[in-house]
Amino acid sequence: MLIAGFSGIGKTAVVNEVHKPIVRQRGYFIKGKFDQFGHNIPFSAFLQAFRDLMGQLLSESNDQLEVWKTKILGALGENAQVLVEVIPELEWIIGKQPSILSIARQIVEQTHRGKLSCISVPREGTEFIIQIPIS
Ligand SMILES: Nc1ncnc2c1ncn2[C@@H]1O[C@H](COP(=O)(O)OP(=O)(O)OP(=O)(O)O)[C@@H](O)[C@H]1O
Ligand SMILES: [Mg+2]
Repeated sequence: MLIAGFSGIGKTAVVNEVHKPIVRQRGYFIKGKFDQFGHNIPFSAFLQAFRDLMGQLLSESNDQLEVWKTKILGALGENAQVLVEVIPELEWIIGKQPSILSIARQIVEQTHRGKLSCISVPREGTEFIIQIPIS
């Protein structure tokens, strides 16, 4: 649910009312705010909300955490590390994930039988070279 309006109009007051029945039914309640601070961060309110959710999940039993881990990894697949970069708390639940570069390498090498190499020069940048054979 997205709520918009001028400052002081009562958005937080409404959101806090919704909180109560959800928690009563043992649901998960998360919230995030887009405001004048940090508005240059894409999806900042969603990130706040999901970082908070990770904290809530961690308070559950180990069995339940395993269920979450399986579900989340199943849904994210190779993109897991992309999400960990913006929701660091996710790593507490799904554990260390292969780096994005190692996944890229795997795709180039295994799917396309190609080669990925990079040359990195401090303060000058990094050049990635992807060679894919033409069959
Ligand atoms: N229905 C209401 N009746 C009386 N007072 C209210 C009502 N809704 C909100 N208020 C009061 O108005 C003030 C501002 O409300 P609130 O903090 O919810 O605004 P907000 O829209 O979240 O503002 P912001 O954008 O700055 O976060 C608070 O002191 C709150 O208690
Ligand atoms: Mg508010």
